[in-house]
Amino acid sequence: MFETLKPLPPDAILGIMTLFRADRHPGKIDLSVGVYQDENGHTPVLQCVKRAERTIIDAQDSKTYVAIAGNAGFNRGVEALVYGAEHSALKDGRVATVQTPGGSGGLSVAAHLIQRAKPDARVHISDPSWPNHLPLLELSGLQLEVYPYYDYVKHRVDFDAMTAKLERVPAGDLVLIHGCCHNPCGADLSKEQWNALADLCERRGLVPFIDIAYQGLAEGLEEDAYGVRLMAERLPEVVVVTSCSKNLGLYRERVGTASFVLANAEASKLALANASNVARGIYSMPPDHGAAIVAQILLDAQLRALWIEELKEMRTRLNGLRRLLVDELRERKTPVDFSFVANERGLFSFLGIGKDQVIRLRDEFHIYMIESSRINIAGINHANVGYVADSIAAVLK
Ligand SMILES: Cc1ncc(COP(=O)(O)O)c(C=O)c1O
Repeated sequence: MFETLKPLPPDAILGIMTLFRADRHPGKIDLSVGVYQDENGHTPVLQCVKRAERTIIDAQDSKTYVAIAGNAGFNRGVEALVYGAEHSALKDGRVATVQTPGGSGGLSVAAHLIQRAKPDARVHISDPSWPNHLPLLELSGLQLEVYPYYDYVKHRVDFDAMTAKLERVPAGDLVLIHGCCHNPCGADLSKEQWNALADLCERRGLVPFIDIAYQGLAEGLEEDAYGVRLMAERLPEVVVVTSCSKNLGLYRERVGTASFVLANAEASKLALANASNVARGIYSMPPDHGAAIVAQILLDAQLRALWIEELKEMRTRLNGLRRLLVDELRERKTPVDFSFVANERGLFSFLGIGKDQVIRLRDEFHIYMIESSRINIAGINHANVGYVADSIAAVLK
């Protein structure tokens, strides 16, 4: 029967990874990867994670199942982190959270629960968005639509075009918004824009669906949660998906949540039971190890302080590299003004150069990036930034 399966179109990112591996040049640079890297191109295990892991392994005396909704300590810890411990939605018992296998699992659980509650709901996603949003949400049967978000010429959020589109969206539809560190464009909403968007959602009856996969990597843990906290304050219903892949470096452990802000405590009990039932139908139980690590870090004051330091180091490195790249390019008097890269946040930005130039960077200069010119800022380091800037300047001549 499997003969009936159709071949899939080649995956652009995997294709670039294959080309990079095949390149024998000793100075080759990979700006296409989707994970954080340190100055040595390594994606490290955080110290706080190592320490928490040792405590857990020593104390653990059973591998029996935990629960469909996962580790309760982890869920409460993530809620406090994302909404703020004193948030009225938490105090009013309006929040239902389940631990999921990564942010991807969270998106999947959220999509299935939305589909169960409102089969004709449409989710509006930004142009551009994380490419995996499409398959993750579509598999549940939800219909997807696109709203304009990034102005590829002016290199900023096109808020007028975005809100003009959302003004025409039917009440009850969902708007998928990146909480911070927009993937792939790095352009985030300002506080004023979040405020205006909350007004719009309230007035038009739209449901915010916030994917916050990079909390703490833009401006800080509290600052990056501005939009989530505002929406949870102002709107009766909000869907929030979190991930510990990036801000705790727990990629392969698969740690995330699907969290729902409901109109009242009764509705939140119903949502929790149904979200757990959805999870049972997809994967039954989430993996425990990563969530146990996070629960331990959030509970232990010393480990938490260490994590906040390590997170700050990652954030400072990313934002510093952004400024450094812009300075290096400015020194080379490129015909393009790249200062927008320093204003964007997170792992990614579009350089805004053409496909031909991306290919020249790869073939002549051994610098690899996605064809759209999306680069991973963390692939740059102090040793290679000069060469990267020289090469970009060369292809722009
Ligand atoms: C915008 C966004 N959402 C969600 C995720 C989910 O990540 P994970 O499933 O590894 O936690 C990612 C990862 O790249 C992402 O960029």
